[in-house]
Amino acid sequence: MKVLVTGRLPEEVVAVLRADHEVVVNDKDQPMARDEVLRHITDKHGLLSMLTDKVDEELIEKAPELKMIANCAVGFNNVDIAAATKRGILVSNTPGVLTDATADLTFALILSVARRVVEGDAMTRSGGFKSWAPFLFLGSEVTGKTLGIIGLGEIGKAVALRARCFRMPVLYYNRSRLGESQEQELNATYTDFPTLLSRSDFISLHVPLTDQTRHLVGKTELRLMKQSAFLINASRGPVVDEKALLEALRTRVIAGAGLDVYENEPEVTPGLSDLANVVLLPHLGSATIETRTKMAGLAVENLLAGLEERIPPNCLNCPRQ
Ligand code: DGY
Repeated sequence: MKVLVTGRLPEEVVAVLRADHEVVVNDKDQPMARDEVLRHITDKHGLLSMLTDKVDEELIEKAPELKMIANCAVGFNNVDIAAATKRGILVSNTPGVLTDATADLTFALILSVARRVVEGDAMTRSGGFKSWAPFLFLGSEVTGKTLGIIGLGEIGKAVALRARCFRMPVLYYNRSRLGESQEQELNATYTDFPTLLSRSDFISLHVPLTDQTRHLVGKTELRLMKQSAFLINASRGPVVDEKALLEALRTRVIAGAGLDVYENEPEVTPGLSDLANVVLLPHLGSATIETRTKMAGLAVENLLAGLEERIPPNCLNCPRQ
């Protein structure tokens, strides 16, 4: 069968696909241009998409043969699942394999912004480090501070586990409450949203992007946060109203932010990069060799299952068995 892979994947993973299928693969380390995707998709049975592809009704309509969309990401807000389902096309994602890498990066953001790592690095590189000084780049202590986690799914839980080592009490806000034993294991206390916002020293977002979570944190929510608090986002950019965040950082409504994702990715709201109290990363949550290889492998496993009329292990729209 014919398959389109829109992003670069490890060679050994592509080889698995090539064994039985005719594969067109983007070998550049940049998203495939939209018009190129639309041109290639017309005769394909399988699509292995990246989170940068908009897999919408227009694309699906151009692909009369399409049976399976394997999105190489845990998030799937870039795929119109309803449109795919209407056409009988299966959709999958890659959960589980990127949990630890994303939780690690969340902590990298917490530590970087609180301890002013990026500012210190820039000054040292530029030859500005002349002497140790008692007030040089004083930051905020992380150990023992309260961590608020919004969305306690797999990644949120992995962040909570790491917080234990920093003796951080965890407040969490989630669609559903965990059982008592899991709350104890994670040292996590369930709260309502305003309480979490007003009591946490660090607030980390781990929700998927949906109509309900778009702009979950805006001007009102930022104003409820402590002036000494930091906002961390390694989930999806549009969960935060980025203009409101810029204003809150500028006017010190909150102390700082660590961002891996942006509202209009890859664009960053003008003004954000001028601020010292924000750490900006280019969507690196899952960017380790180990994790990206596992994500690619899992996406291929899902794709092959769908093409071979088996149930993909991470099917998002399969009829219940
Ligand atoms: C995902 O898989 O959704 C992540 O954002 C990739 O880093």
